[in-house]
Amino acid sequence: MKRVITYGTFDLFHKGHYNLLKRAKALGDYLIVGVTTEQYDEYRGKVNVIDSLMERIEHVRHTGFADEIIVEDHIGQKIEDIQKYGIDIFTVGSDWQGAFDYLKGLCDVVYLKRTRDISSTMLRARNQKIIRIGIIGSGRIANRFVPEAKRVSSVNIEAVYNPNIESARTFGETYELDTYTDDWNVFLDKIDAVYIASPHGTHYGYIKSSLDAGKHVLCEKPMVLQKVQAQELFSLAKQKELVLMEAIKTAYSPGFIKLLSIAKIGSIGQIYDVEACFTKLAPENTRELKDVKYGGSFTELASYPLLAVVKILGSDYEEVKFESFNNKKDLDIYAKAYIKYKNCLATVKVGLGVKSEGQLIISGSKGYIIADAPWWKTQSFETRYEDTAQNEKYFFKFQGEGLRYEVNEFATMINSSEKKGFKLTAGESTAIAEIMEKFLENRKL
Ligand code: CTP
Repeated sequence: MKRVITYGTFDLFHKGHYNLLKRAKALGDYLIVGVTTEQYDEYRGKVNVIDSLMERIEHVRHTGFADEIIVEDHIGQKIEDIQKYGIDIFTVGSDWQGAFDYLKGLCDVVYLKRTRDISSTMLRARNQKIIRIGIIGSGRIANRFVPEAKRVSSVNIEAVYNPNIESARTFGETYELDTYTDDWNVFLDKIDAVYIASPHGTHYGYIKSSLDAGKHVLCEKPMVLQKVQAQELFSLAKQKELVLMEAIKTAYSPGFIKLLSIAKIGSIGQIYDVEACFTKLAPENTRELKDVKYGGSFTELASYPLLAVVKILGSDYEEVKFESFNNKKDLDIYAKAYIKYKNCLATVKVGLGVKSEGQLIISGSKGYIIADAPWWKTQSFETRYEDTAQNEKYFFKFQGEGLRYEVNEFATMINSSEKKGFKLTAGESTAIAEIMEKFLENRKL
């Protein structure tokens, strides 16, 4: 009996997939089809798969060509499967020509002619309305956003708005955008959604105006610095059935999401403590260290560690206390927040003028999780125990600057009927805004 194996994502199942499976089956007597998991596709850089794993498996099953369906979830699995299942022929479409020649020592490798003029990518582009995004502000983070957004096929950066037309022009020309403008109405006319990358103090006004104009909003962190503002804006978004999302990239990245799951399934027992640190040395004359109202290390950097705390311990803390060292402008160059929950504690440590190890440690009754610096670009973490033989290390890819994950989530939420996700909820963003607000109140004293 000749055993054949093939793999694929099989998203938005199409004629090309059908033909491939039919030909694969015809190569032998028994066909095994490996269908990729969402996580593995994300790892491979495919961040916009639409159908769920179960739907994709069902579509493959429905063809009647597969004698067995397996799930592909890690790199190197093909070599393992070929040996495990005693495979004679490995096959894939000709778009992969040469890519699997390394399997030739184990079995025959056959590249089947690919069906022309059809692919999941084409269907995704055709089925989905492309979301036209306009950028508000044209500073450092906006410059990082454009190349990342290009990785997400369902969005297009259409326009940039800046009240300073020269800044808008430079940005627009650099990224060859169709529109750069200092006219708010011209800007709104061109877009379905905004990405707000302007200074912190302007966020509230821009979010409100954008929601009022019926636009979805992705806003840089810290979204707002007052609890009531966060509550008001999230309820406005809900009422208008629009997406409002805070752009804390870590929240949407695969490594961090996995870390949260591992922490929550009890692998380190009951969680008692979260310690998260983020420092980034900044020159004296930067906006972060000069803007007397909104500057300082806490407003600038604490979104990341607060995200970790709120995601792991929840939004219902009992008490928060702060300590900081300030510069001559009374802006904190180093700050700590101690957050007390009913049965656990958290420490947040940030610095623009003090450098420290950017790690995240979650301590529990059975062990702890440590995510190495920079933990907010989660590429690896380890669960550690008294008995070191039980330690386990996890590795992930954090693609590029990581903003593509939040853009992808933003687009997915816009296209969903519920208009809400679980990766960073309104309640969690509001809790972060509240802690920021308390910090600023405390700094004034
Ligand atoms: N395939 C094919 N003909 C097509 C499209 C895909 O023969 N027109 C084959 C691929 O070569 C692969 C299998 O179908 O062996 C599953 O491919 P998959 O990556 O799931 O499909 P694509 O349509 O190529 O997906 P995407 O556009 O997301 O890359």
